[in-house]
Amino acid sequence: MRPVRVVVYGAGTMGLLATRMLKEKGAQIVGAIARSDAKKGVDLGTLAGVDKLGVLVDTDAERVLGSVRPDVVMLATQSFIPEIYDQLAMCIRSGANVLTLAEETFFPWNTSPTLTAQLDRLARIHGVTVTGGGHQDSFWIHQVGALMGASHRIDSVKGFATWNADDYGPDVIATKHVGETLEAFEHAVGQGDAPPTYGRNVLGALAQASSLTPVGWEATVRPVIVDQDRTSRSLGRTLSAGTVIGYSDVDTMRTAEGPVFTFEMAGYVYGAGESDTNEWNVYGEPDLYLGNGVVPSYTTTCTQWVNRVPDVINARPGVVTIDEMPPLSYRALPLHRYVDGGKLS
Ligand SMILES: NC(=O)c1ccc[n+]([C@@H]2O[C@H](COP(=O)([O-])OP(=O)(O)OC[C@H]3O[C@@H](n4cnc5c(N)ncnc54)[C@H](OP(=O)(O)O)[C@@H]3O)[C@@H](O)[C@H]2O)c1
Repeated sequence: MRPVRVVVYGAGTMGLLATRMLKEKGAQIVGAIARSDAKKGVDLGTLAGVDKLGVLVDTDAERVLGSVRPDVVMLATQSFIPEIYDQLAMCIRSGANVLTLAEETFFPWNTSPTLTAQLDRLARIHGVTVTGGGHQDSFWIHQVGALMGASHRIDSVKGFATWNADDYGPDVIATKHVGETLEAFEHAVGQGDAPPTYGRNVLGALAQASSLTPVGWEATVRPVIVDQDRTSRSLGRTLSAGTVIGYSDVDTMRTAEGPVFTFEMAGYVYGAGESDTNEWNVYGEPDLYLGNGVVPSYTTTCTQWVNRVPDVINARPGVVTIDEMPPLSYRALPLHRYVDGGKLS
């Protein structure tokens, strides 16, 4: 069987880390797409800090997708369905499966139902799969689902996670309102057209995974304000005391069957000694606890993204969310060795 052919769409922080992992897992990278002229024509391997791959970054996505016929596009550009709709549609029309890090795609049926249904229809027509993955996959769905499966009765589920916004690219920093004054932050989040919280998409997937019916949602947003000057590596400047360095979303989901879910997710620029966390409590009979200690989310985003590649090629056509996929498996062999026979002809 031949190697999996991959296009890296979004040669940024995540796309470049995944480039090394994809190569090490035997994938054949056949194209790379970015937005800026600064990256155009540069070898993807050079950008990723590995040996040259002979793949030059292009800014014309249509040209790349039309010429190299990938099995999978690894899409890591932006977070929300409305902003990546055209990118997804272009990938689908080119006949490629898409595995994206866009947080809303993790479970988009509640937050962008019309656009998701359109993508689902288009993907079925073209016989390809669209899936959103990344850090959420194991840490916020499959591990939590397994814990819930060990319960006799669940009254509530509470999750708490933090991640360092400074680990990611400038677009991510901007969506976290890093560096804004409190007034600017409150004005922005008070506009009423804020995109969905990542937590809402996670809770939607958890409900789906356990056949629960969401009947009510609440969300609150709390700014994280720094009390001493703090340097942002990603922004390359100091954030002065009193500035917003990120925020915390608290999402609550009520279900018709009874269990109430709360997930607090804080993304902000860390200070010295802070690390990512992931803790979940399931209250009922019995009370259960899951804690992952220090979580290297920056790395585990890409390890999970890459390990999911065979599942996306094997999955049925359409929008297939992670709750429909098996728990992640370790991939000791090249990725194509896990692809069903006939899928890579
Ligand atoms: N699900 C998860 O677990 C998870 C974890 C981490 C990040 N993410 C998400 O993944 C996305 C990427 O994160 P990152 O840290 O890699 O961001 P980043 O460093 O800013 O990289 C984004 C890349 O996408 C390219 N890009 C942006 N808009 C584009 C467009 N319209 N057309 C073509 N290329 C475009 C950029 O090109 P240029 O470099 O040329 O500007 C850049 O290469 C973000 O939405 C982030 O929120 C998800």
